[in-house]
Amino acid sequence: MRHAGGFPFSIGDMAVPVIETDRLVLRPFVPEDIDALAALHAEETFWRFPLGRGQTRAETEDFLERTIARYEEGLGLHAVIERRSGLLAGWAGLSVPHFLPEVLPAVEVGWRLGEAFRGQGYATEAGAAAIRWGFEDRNLDRIVSIYEPGNTASGAVMERLGLTLDRVTSLPQRMLEVHVLVLTAGRWEQLVHAGSWPAPPHGPR
Ligand SMILES: CC(C)(COP(=O)(O)OP(=O)(O)OC[C@H]1O[C@@H](n2cnc3c(N)ncnc32)[C@H](O)[C@@H]1OP(=O)(O)O)[C@@H](O)C(=O)NCCC(=O)NCCS
Repeated sequence: MRHAGGFPFSIGDMAVPVIETDRLVLRPFVPEDIDALAALHAEETFWRFPLGRGQTRAETEDFLERTIARYEEGLGLHAVIERRSGLLAGWAGLSVPHFLPEVLPAVEVGWRLGEAFRGQGYATEAGAAAIRWGFEDRNLDRIVSIYEPGNTASGAVMERLGLTLDRVTSLPQRMLEVHVLVLTAGRWEQLVHAGSWPAPPHGPR
C-alpha cells in the first residue's frame, strides 16, 4: 500500500541505503564528510537559490548534523560520490519540505552539485535514483520538488524527471516565488513502462 502524501509514518528500522547508478554512488553522509562538504557549500552558486551566498563552515556543520539525524525518519539526502574520482560531487535525495508548510505532508526530491560536477547529467541521474527509491522502496504515492523559477537548471532536471507544475506560491519567511512540481507514483510507472524516463537531456520539452 502506498503512503498518502508523505511523512511521518512508521518506517521501523529501514536504514537509508547505498544506491549505485552508472556513474555515481549515493550513500548516507557521515561526519567525516565535513571538509569536502564545506568546500562545496562555500561556493556562491551552490546556495545562490535561496540564500544568494555560500554557506559558512558552521552552517555546513549544522546541515550535516541535521541531515544525519534525519536518517532516522527513513528518508534522507544522500552524499553523491562520483565513481571515477571518488570525490563528493554534492548531494541528492528525499526530505520533508518543512520550509513550505502549505505542501505538507509531502516528500521532496532535491539536488545540489558542486560547480565542477555540473553539465554531465549527474543531477538527473541522482534524482532519478532517489525518486525510484521513494516509489519502489518507500512506497510514496507522490513526490514533489520545489524551485525558484530563476533556477532554470534545476527546473530542467525536474522536467527530465517527469515532474509537472502543481502550484506557484512563495516561501513564507523569504517571500520568494517558488514553483512546486509533482510526480505521482502512477505517472512515474507509466513513464518507466513507456521507456521515456528520465527524458534525455535535449529531448522533447
Ligand atoms: C540544479 C543543478 C543540480 C543542475 O545541474 P545540471 O548539471 O544542470 O543538471 P544535470 O546534472 O542533470 O546535467 C544536465 C546537463 O548535463 C548535460 N550532459 C552532459 N553529459 C551528459 C550525460 N552523459 N547525460 C546526461 N546529461 C549530460 C546535459 O546536456 C545538460 O546540459 P544543459 O543544461 O546544457 O542542457 C545545478 O545547477 C546545481 O547544483 N545548482 C546549485 C544548487 C541548486 O540550485 N540546486 C537546486 C535547488 S532547487
